[in-house]
Amino acid sequence: MDPKLASLLDEQYRLQIVGRTNRSNTILEYSVDLCVVEISKPSQNVLQYGLSGLILDYVLANSDVVWADLASGNSIALRQGKLFLEEHGLDPSRLRTYGFDVLPVDIEVIQHHITHWPKEYAETLLQQKYSPELHQCDILTVEFPESPDIVTCSESLFWTDDPLKIFTNAAKQAKVGATICMNRQSKAFYKAHDGSHSRLFQELIRRFDGLPGFDVRYYDSHAGLIVTKIDNCPMLDFGLILVDKQMSREGYVHTYVDA
Ligand SMILES: C[S@@+](CC[C@H](N)C(=O)[O-])C[C@H]1O[C@@H](n2cnc3c(N)ncnc32)[C@H](O)[C@@H]1O
Repeated sequence: MDPKLASLLDEQYRLQIVGRTNRSNTILEYSVDLCVVEISKPSQNVLQYGLSGLILDYVLANSDVVWADLASGNSIALRQGKLFLEEHGLDPSRLRTYGFDVLPVDIEVIQHHITHWPKEYAETLLQQKYSPELHQCDILTVEFPESPDIVTCSESLFWTDDPLKIFTNAAKQAKVGATICMNRQSKAFYKAHDGSHSRLFQELIRRFDGLPGFDVRYYDSHAGLIVTKIDNCPMLDFGLILVDKQMSREGYVHTYVDA
C-alpha cells in the first residue's frame, strides 16, 4: 500500500476509537444532515424531499445515474439508494454507486447496526445487488472511475487535512448538472466546535461568490452546502493549509490557513 494511504489509514483507525463513530448513517440521516431536508427551518431553496427524492429525480430524467459518496463509512446510505429505486419499481442498476473511504467497510458493524430494523429489510439491504463499488483511497485526491451526477460528503469534511480541496477535487470531476452536498460536522464534533468549522464554510461560500459555474441551492455556515454545477469552472484551485491538528476525545480540532 502507498505509504501516505497507510499512514492515513492508521490515523483513521485511531480516530475511530476515540471518536467511537459507527460510520453507519442512513439515507434519512444523510438527507437531514446534508440539509437536503431541513426540518426545522424550511426554506424554498432547500431540497425538502430528501436525498432519495433527489436520486429519483435524476433517475427519472436520465437513463442512468452515478452517485459518489465521499467518506462513505459502512456505505449503508449507498445501499439504501439502490433499494429505494427498486421499491419504486425502477431497476436499481440504473443507479451506479461508488463509496470512497480510507477505511474498509465493516460488515459486522452494519449487521450490528441494523439488528433492530425489520428483519426482512435488513436482510434485503445486505444483498450483493445493492452493494456499491468501494474504493479505499484518500478523498482529497480521489479520481472518480466515472463522472458523478450526485456527490455527497457527510460528517467527514473536517476529518481531513483540507476540506476545501475535497470540494474542489470532486466538483472538477462532477458532470455539469451534478448536485454536490456536503455538511459540516458530525454531532460529536459539533460539541467540540470552536467556530473554526463555520468559518470554513463561510470561506467556501466566499469563494463561490467569485466563481461562476455553480448555483448555490442551500448554504448555512452552521450546517452545510448544496450546489448544482452549471458549467465547467476552470478556477477550482483553492485549498487550505493545515497548521495544527489536535486529537481530542471528540475527534480532531484542526487549524487551517489559506493556501
Ligand atoms: C464520521 S465518519 C462518516 C461516515 C459516513 N459518511 C456516515 O455518515 O456514516 C468519517 C469517515 O471519513 C473517513 N475519512 C476520513 N478522512 C478520510 C480521507 N482523507 N480519505 C478517505 N476517507 C476518510 C473515515 O474513514 C470515516 O469513515
